[in-house]
Amino acid sequence: MERREHWATRIGLILAMAGNAVGLGNFLRFPVQAAENGGGAFMIPYLLAFLAVGIPLMWVEWAMGRFGGAHGHGTTPSIFYLIKPSRLSRVLGVFGLWIPLVVIIYYVYIESWTLGFALKFLVGLAPEPPPGASSPEEVLRPFKEFLFNYVGLNAEGDFLKPSLFAYLMFLVTMAINAAILLRGVSKGIERFARVAMPTLFLLAVFLVVRVFLLETPNGSAVEGLNFLWHPDFSKLTDPGVWIAAVGQIFFTLSLGFGAIVTYASYVRRDEDITLSGLTAATLNEKAEVILGGSIAIPAAVAFFGLTAAVEIAKGGAFNLGFISLPAVFSQTAGGPFLGFLWFFLLFFAGLTSSIALMQPLVAFFEDELKLTHRQAVFFTAGIVFFSAHLVIFLRGALDEMDFWAGTVGVVFFGLVELIYFVWLFGPRRAWEEINRGGIIKVPKVYYWVMRFVTPAFLLLLLAVWLFEKAPAVLTQTHWTVWVTRFYMVGLFLLLTMLVFLAERRRV
Ligand code: PFF
Repeated sequence: MERREHWATRIGLILAMAGNAVGLGNFLRFPVQAAENGGGAFMIPYLLAFLAVGIPLMWVEWAMGRFGGAHGHGTTPSIFYLIKPSRLSRVLGVFGLWIPLVVIIYYVYIESWTLGFALKFLVGLAPEPPPGASSPEEVLRPFKEFLFNYVGLNAEGDFLKPSLFAYLMFLVTMAINAAILLRGVSKGIERFARVAMPTLFLLAVFLVVRVFLLETPNGSAVEGLNFLWHPDFSKLTDPGVWIAAVGQIFFTLSLGFGAIVTYASYVRRDEDITLSGLTAATLNEKAEVILGGSIAIPAAVAFFGLTAAVEIAKGGAFNLGFISLPAVFSQTAGGPFLGFLWFFLLFFAGLTSSIALMQPLVAFFEDELKLTHRQAVFFTAGIVFFSAHLVIFLRGALDEMDFWAGTVGVVFFGLVELIYFVWLFGPRRAWEEINRGGIIKVPKVYYWVMRFVTPAFLLLLLAVWLFEKAPAVLTQTHWTVWVTRFYMVGLFLLLTMLVFLAERRRV
């Protein structure tokens, strides 16, 4: 059996895994989800989803990855096949390549905006609020125009006309991602995470402190925290809040993407995963609820008041992070520099995640198609680069991809992973596999949670989704939506072909 790479140190592994999980989702997606779903009402299902879905699935993905790595495979088409040799296993496993591929196509583009914004704010090309502006609309307007010009949202019709600078930043972001990946797992991903994660942490803490000091006649940051941290049980019967909470847990912990599996495949066979996995997941939750929850929303509440802030958040992640927050900072001393720090924080958070989204495909090309590491990185980057043009130029493609791969796909695939690893592999073997080499032992209650609670919960969620949301989504008729769907199906077929090609080459 040929040798695969391994993580060099435990701290490096944990930081790389935390870097995988801590991303744009923590600082942009989480605050929006929380605000949209009633603040304190969201946090209860969120916490339950973390305990009942996030933690068990996290251990399952780590164990599945380490198991696959010991057999020379870092992606799910082969790992599922190891568990149950059949064609269906390979086809279902393709989702573990397709989901990270579709998500990286738009994720890396958004990440490139954060780089572009960071640079513009650094060199003083940031927008400024009109002097004497009093209403939120007036303060926000130049920032909105700035974003719209950048990504080309101001153009009429179905096509976007991004600025040349935006396109250039996309190229630079792709190049940086490829450069890190080219160096490999321990020299590239791990080393980068060891620098990026502490930096990111310091930046975030600094911004949190700055936001806490904000106070205006409209409100204060503390009111924002109160909104988030005041438990509200009234909405627990709303399935929408549960779907949102579980969706956020999947996205933020990178679960159901195949990406944790691939990172875990570089863990040595008898090395601990129970404590390392728990540590990485806990770090992500701290970065999310403590840091992510204490910047964008509290800042918006301090400046615009609670009601207006919630409205802004409902306008989506881009509204909150790319328009409202820099606008708030612009009202204080050193505003553009704070804006720079914010976007730079997002860029680092995004970068440690985007490399994680690309690594499954890199691993697949290396492990299964026996390409060299360089070839694998170039092919992966090439497919991502080409596909991203759909997102860059076609209105609505981003949302469509995010919906199918990043929202519904991950829940479906998480369920498939549980079925394979816990049910088909066998609960006892799965339990042993998870605990082997573990510094801590997983509490026995999770043996039952993994077998019954998590799958039942996910099944119920998918069923509710199917009946409640699917009809409205599926009856959309706009042509751009369909082009995007066809493209995604095309990618799935391409990956399936490659998976079976690899199988034929092996025999
Ligand atoms: N967890 C990342 C975030 O919160 O932004 C998103 C993500 C990164 C998902 C990497 C999946 C992944 F493999």
